[in-house]
Amino acid sequence: QVSDSLYIINKFAQQFFTEVLFNTDEGNNAGLSYLKERGFREEIIKKFELGYNPEARDTFAKVATNAQFNESLLQKSGLVVARENGLQDNYRGRIIFPIHNQTGKIAGFGARLIRNNDKAPKYINTPENEIYVKSKILYGSYFARQAIDKADECLLVEGYTDVLALHQAGIENAVASGGTSLTPDQLRLIKKYTQNLTILYDGDNAGIKAALRGLDLALEEGLNVQLVLLPNQEDPDSYINKNGVAAFNAFIKENKKDFILFQLEHALKDAGDDTNKRSHAVNQVAETISKINKAEEFTKQQDYIHKTAQLLNIDESGLHNLVNKYIRE
Ligand code: GTP
Ligand code: MN
Ligand code: MN
Ligand code: MN
Ligand code: MN
Repeated sequence: QVSDSLYIINKFAQQFFTEVLFNTDEGNNAGLSYLKERGFREEIIKKFELGYNPEARDTFAKVATNAQFNESLLQKSGLVVARENGLQDNYRGRIIFPIHNQTGKIAGFGARLIRNNDKAPKYINTPENEIYVKSKILYGSYFARQAIDKADECLLVEGYTDVLALHQAGIENAVASGGTSLTPDQLRLIKKYTQNLTILYDGDNAGIKAALRGLDLALEEGLNVQLVLLPNQEDPDSYINKNGVAAFNAFIKENKKDFILFQLEHALKDAGDDTNKRSHAVNQVAETISKINKAEEFTKQQDYIHKTAQLLNIDESGLHNLVNKYIRE
């Protein structure tokens, strides 16, 4: 029952960190004021059970040891690390984002520095253990599932704070991948709630790359994928803070793009006039279209062939044959 014990430790820790955030001077002055300066209100902070781990060496380690939690389990939880002079807190001086699984239990944590600096990573996460398997968890899924169901659409963003900002703005069908590319397990999780996935990634090169990597997998899972790239240097949180929710919604509506066509346009732009590269782009899109390959999706596939042929100004039946070639492979 290592799993059960880890869930209990995590819940205990979250309650401690939340208590520190709201009811201690350090929590107020460092943690809560930081979150409020960023525009997060108490209601959303409480809903997502955020907290703060003090700067001192072992505040949480002491509390947990006094509460008789087993040392090796505490280490396994990632909340503390063993040092020569005893257990030490792992997330010192950081804002704590509990990561809930689909059933609402706390599987792990993300911990953010209050001030960015070059010496330490901005976020630290729970190491993989029996209950925290990164590839199977989407941040926010527990709080988003009803809204995803209702909208019949899931918004996927990069970061914890993007999920918070969207929920606070009343857009509750949002989950985060945590800055990594999507995994098959995460896509299956989304598919339990909806077929329609809209990816809202940061408009930088890393965001574009991460988005493109998820495409084939998503299509194989039978999801309809649309993509919105935010303006350079922005993410949903910063965009909403700067421009407001109405402008954000308008931007999404205006810039939502079918993912396959996005991939094609991206490849063509890269190719320029280079014939070899253009032909490579055509092959790439044919391969992508070939992933929409289930009988019930035949019409969707034909649609893509039609649209792509138009976009490329090439013969539709030639593209058909190319797609079929990839299906046979
Ligand atoms: P804020 O700066 O607080 O607004 O967070 P952000 O979500 O905008 O951060 P960013 O766009 O840089 O990264 C997106 C996501 O990648 C974060 O929410 C984290 O999950 C993850 N991430 C970012 N930086 C780090 C890091 O230094 N280490 C790890 N492990 N993950 C990170
Ligand atoms: Mn980014
Ligand atoms: Mn951000
Ligand atoms: Mn970001
Ligand atoms: Mn046609």
